[in-house]
Amino acid sequence: MQLILQDIEKNFGDKKVLKKSTFTFEKGKIYGLLGRNGAGKTTLFNCISEEIKYDGGSITFHQYEKENVKADYSQVGYVFSEPILPDFLTGYEFLKFFIDINKDKIENLLSIDEYLDRMKINKEDRYRLIKGYSHGMKNKIQMLTTLITKPEVILLDEPLTSFDVVVALEMKNLLKKIKEDHIIIFSTHILQLATDLCDEIVVLNDGVLELLDNKLIKSPEFEAEIMEILKENEND
Ligand SMILES: Nc1ncnc2c1ncn2[C@@H]1O[C@H](COP(=O)(O)OP(=O)(O)OP(=O)(O)O)[C@@H](O)[C@H]1O
Ligand SMILES: [Mg+2]
Repeated sequence: MQLILQDIEKNFGDKKVLKKSTFTFEKGKIYGLLGRNGAGKTTLFNCISEEIKYDGGSITFHQYEKENVKADYSQVGYVFSEPILPDFLTGYEFLKFFIDINKDKIENLLSIDEYLDRMKINKEDRYRLIKGYSHGMKNKIQMLTTLITKPEVILLDEPLTSFDVVVALEMKNLLKKIKEDHIIIFSTHILQLATDLCDEIVVLNDGVLELLDNKLIKSPEFEAEIMEILKENEND
């Protein structure tokens, strides 16, 4: 499966954030999305997940040997950088509710406790209101929803940054394990995370997406090069 972005445009008033951006993401790979603050990474994710409407271009899925179809947004899982969860439910109650409304989509359902174990949310916290959760705990719950429904496209907007080192490492391993069946796009400001985890690195710069040469990613000049690329538009 491919996720094809063709000439995507998104403006906020006079501000052109995405400028006819074209890119094809392939199943089986983890893509690291790099870009300066305000480059448009979250905006791009919002367009792919149809949280917001884009102004031009198209987003399609291409299943091999079939015609392109308009993206099926139920197949896009999105973990926001700021988790949006109901404060008035416990983690356990929320997952129960989530599984209930998505049960048609879930294959190989585990028990709620098994999912919570996987994310290392301890027994005590499961039955506390989400309102009192830390940012990282909320992110874990959001991440779990994606792991439960296993959508074809997984968008992660800087989620690992708030995880403690143990969970971050487990998440990295988990993402590597599931990547064969998904397109995973991962925005981060942490270069090392991008080089560690991702098969490809894509830079969002001046409104367009550009794939970095894989040879560059492994080279010692990588950091300096990426600085150059990202600084180019400093004076815009
Ligand atoms: N709803 C909105 N209304 C107006 N402008 C917006 C809106 N959402 C985003 N923008 C603008 O679009 C640009 C891109 O923002 P976006 O949040 O996508 O950047 P980002 O790459 O995710 O940045 P960061 O790395 O800081 O998370 C910014 O200039 C931002 O101010
Ligand atoms: Mg952002």
